[in-house]
Amino acid sequence: MTDTSRFVVDPSWPSDVLETSLVEAASILREGGLVAFPTETVYGLGANALCEQAVARIFEAKGRPGDNPLIVHIASMQELSSVVRSVPPSALLVAQAFWPGPLTVILPKQERIPRAVTAGLDTVAVRMPSHPVASALIRAAGIPIAAPSANASGRPSPTLASHVWHDLAGRIDMLIDGGPAGIGLESTVLDLASDTPMVLRPGGVSVEQLRALLPDVRTLGEYGGSESDGSEGSARSPGLKHRHYSPRAPLWLFIGDVHAQASRIAEEAGVAREKGQRVGLLVSEDCARLLAHLTPDLHDSTTTEITGLRDDLSAIASSLFQSMRDLDAAGVDLILAESYPTIGIGLAIMNRLVRAAGDRLVFVAERGRK
Ligand code: TXA
Ligand code: MG
Repeated sequence: MTDTSRFVVDPSWPSDVLETSLVEAASILREGGLVAFPTETVYGLGANALCEQAVARIFEAKGRPGDNPLIVHIASMQELSSVVRSVPPSALLVAQAFWPGPLTVILPKQERIPRAVTAGLDTVAVRMPSHPVASALIRAAGIPIAAPSANASGRPSPTLASHVWHDLAGRIDMLIDGGPAGIGLESTVLDLASDTPMVLRPGGVSVEQLRALLPDVRTLGEYGGSESDGSEGSARSPGLKHRHYSPRAPLWLFIGDVHAQASRIAEEAGVAREKGQRVGLLVSEDCARLLAHLTPDLHDSTTTEITGLRDDLSAIASSLFQSMRDLDAAGVDLILAESYPTIGIGLAIMNRLVRAAGDRLVFVAERGRK
């Protein structure tokens, strides 16, 4: 057990004030320790990306399989040249447009990046986060920081410091609480190491935004890369083959028109309740309203997590992982989840839901059709 220290920083402070309070965190990182910190996507678990032993501690603390490579976080373009072998024009273009921000690029790695970081691959994933705390911490440490999401392996990524504490207290040296992570889903992972740019994981920067700059950008499968859509993802990104983003309870994902989803969810909830199962609903406000109309007593005996309004996909993205965790905390036996349009951040939402569901996808008829 490690004695995990915890401190709160206000991310709206000017960065020089922030840096004063982050001096200790930076020195822990330089000495090979582990520090969890907020980013604009989700909380990250940082270690010195140039130190093999420090990086090994990340895998140990998370229970992460050693074949799943890490993202290296940087704070400047100079640092990019120190971790990758070359920066192609496509990388410059997207870096200019989206850095600092929720985009990770995969490029050929420099010798100095240990194999533990890249799981033996010849490429490295790099991201420049925009969160003021993340950026101030990397600057103060003066080294590139390897950081996966700060959850126990297989659990939904943490969007609050309390999620990190729940999963990793006693396993890491320090947790910096900077309030809620903004976007709530991880960065977009864009592979620029081969001929065609390929989105390996949809995230905070949308495929539409990338396509405006890189017209030939490709995605993996209907939901942007998962085991269940039969995509070639696991060959390109080792992380895609591991179970991810999952609440403990089995999650069923309903796909189709929202009205058809609601009637099928109401039906399945009724069946499960008859079997004495505790049902969790992961639905939008729109769907919850339809459900209340269809089955007025439904909410008395189920735990409902409202994700947001269907026409505000950003709000749904930012609450999704927290809702999954809350349903687990409520001790539900199964989760019935609504699906969303795959436009903009909607693709990242659906990617995480499909991966949480595994093969439990339920295709429902369109309204008016049977
Ligand atoms: O938003 C984020 O990206 C967060 C914050 C903390 O920055 N980090 C994050 O890291 O989500 P992690 O480790 O949970 O996810 C990294 C993903 C994995 O799917 C991994 O397989 C993929 O990036 N990846 C890393 N290096 C790679 C490489 N060289 N080639 C292909 N995929 C890679
Ligand atoms: Mg992760």
